[in-house]
Amino acid sequence: MTDGPPDGIAEPGVGTANLEEDLNRILLGDNLEVLRGLPDGLADLIYVDPPFNTGRVQRRTRIRTRRSPNGDRTGFKGERYRTESLGTKRFRDSFDDYLAFLEPRLVEAYRVLAPHGSLYFHIDYREVHRCRFLLDELFGPDNLLNEIIWAYDFGARPKTRWPAKHDNILFYVKNLSDYVFDVDAIERIPYMAPGLVGPDKAARGKLPTDTWWHTIVPTSGAERTGYPTQKPLGILRRIVTASSRPGDLVLDFFAGSGTTGMAAHELGRRFVLVDDNPEALEVMAKRFAEVPEVRWEGYEACVSGSAEDLR
Ligand SMILES: C[S@@+](CC[C@H](N)C(=O)[O-])C[C@H]1O[C@@H](n2cnc3c(N)ncnc32)[C@H](O)[C@@H]1O
Repeated sequence: MTDGPPDGIAEPGVGTANLEEDLNRILLGDNLEVLRGLPDGLADLIYVDPPFNTGRVQRRTRIRTRRSPNGDRTGFKGERYRTESLGTKRFRDSFDDYLAFLEPRLVEAYRVLAPHGSLYFHIDYREVHRCRFLLDELFGPDNLLNEIIWAYDFGARPKTRWPAKHDNILFYVKNLSDYVFDVDAIERIPYMAPGLVGPDKAARGKLPTDTWWHTIVPTSGAERTGYPTQKPLGILRRIVTASSRPGDLVLDFFAGSGTTGMAAHELGRRFVLVDDNPEALEVMAKRFAEVPEVRWEGYEACVSGSAEDLR
């Protein structure tokens, strides 16, 4: 399964010449260098979820509790439990000049996007206005089809303002008269007041709007990888379903735990994933252990565990 130097950083353009013919690729490296090595018009769909410039180092520590008479906390029926740390995953989320970081990457992304392609850009309310300005310049403001609001309901609720419980996903197409939007394939959702629409409509459900209610990745459960800022598969499935066709190539160059690739794989699309954090590749190596036809670049995916170990 190896294709590059163990634990090395991918050289610009390493092995990318025949990308169209290959199935799936996961690359370790700075995405600017990797993007520069990709051919024009390669990707039918790009989804990216860059770090949000919160100035923090994102961390997630996984814990396990075991029953123990000398445990540090009391749980169910007064039993004592001991907490064990299973390790912390982290990546930096801070750039002195966020737009200067993003701009050359988005310029390359635009070049790599097929003429009929779509870009979904996932960000939060602190940066969305500045990113939109940048993307409007590249795509043209009319090519922004939606600002999708992903609304969730989890975490702390400050008492000094309205708790911020949404992310923003900007959806651009390269060509307004030639792009993929498969409205019939989109999974329909229940009406809020089914009694008002009649039994047939109620049974069929309705199309989602630009406001998507979806839980975050559950803190326990099959989907969770433990990678900080992992996005829910449900969000990516909806994007991949609507804006690509089976066999298309989906690119995510801020891949993290590889959610985009997993949604693409499940839906019969090919994928190219890039991240510069070896811990992300480690998570992806386990997550994709059972997916055949993955080619690794700049990283030796010697998987000793499986997706099960991520939980
Ligand atoms: C917000 S996370 C993406 C999470 C992902 N959507 C998921 O579902 O797991 C952003 C990712 O971008 C990566 N990243 C940041 N700067 C990068 C760069 N210059 N090149 C490649 N990856 C980068 C980080 O390592 C991190 O994994």
